Amino acid sequence: MLTPLLVANWKMNKTIAEAEAFALALNAAQRTTEREVVVCGPFTTLNALRKTLSPEIGVGAQTMHQAESGAFTGEISATMVREVGCSHVIIGHSERRQYFGETDATVHEKILTALHHNLIPIVCVGELLEQRQNNETETVVTTQIHAALRELSAEQIAKVVIAYEPIWAIGTGLAATPEQAQAVHALIRALTSVQTRILYGGSVTPENIKTLMAQPDINGGLVGGASLDVQKFLQIINY
Ligand code: PGA
Repeated sequence: MLTPLLVANWKMNKTIAEAEAFALALNAAQRTTEREVVVCGPFTTLNALRKTLSPEIGVGAQTMHQAESGAFTGEISATMVREVGCSHVIIGHSERRQYFGETDATVHEKILTALHHNLIPIVCVGELLEQRQNNETETVVTTQIHAALRELSAEQIAKVVIAYEPIWAIGTGLAATPEQAQAVHALIRALTSVQTRILYGGSVTPENIKTLMAQPDINGGLVGGASLDVQKFLQIINY
């Protein structure tokens, strides 16, 4: 069985002081073994997170630029993300696609750059409510996965983490049912490999994580709102 992976996505929340307090609380708490944990904070918190968190807890960025360096005001490169001690980077979150113009094409480039720099990309895919209602979920997710993983080797596909995040479930309190999630995860499994970890994201809570994780193709969670509270995140890790 693949080791379950629980990832916190703090989005634009927490100062350095708040991140340090969270990290100390997470270090001190009893954590179920055989769970991989990664905390993705804002760029400004990453150095403090890496210095404060126990070494077995990973640190990730929430995005990065695909180019090696250059005239991209405000952007952060893979080298910079690595230098600060990150092992993971979230790529193509739906908020990046919606508000910051990321496309399937830039997502693909960012995945290649991340892998080149030995960063594990956590690649987000998922459909809008309207697309689900029009029975387009399968087509949308298949297109996103094909574009993202185009020309990757089997070895690279095994390394990549996919996060299925139905957009209607993000921050709404309306998580997909375990059956709805499993149906899409099975599709993503068929498009990737038995070794690829496929996370579910979208209103994950301490209450629903266990039934989600009981599904055969759900290998972890990408947790937004509930990851801001260390006690809630701990309950999710220790589901
Ligand atoms: P949420 O966010 O858990 O607050 O729904 C998940 C995400 O956007 O990664």
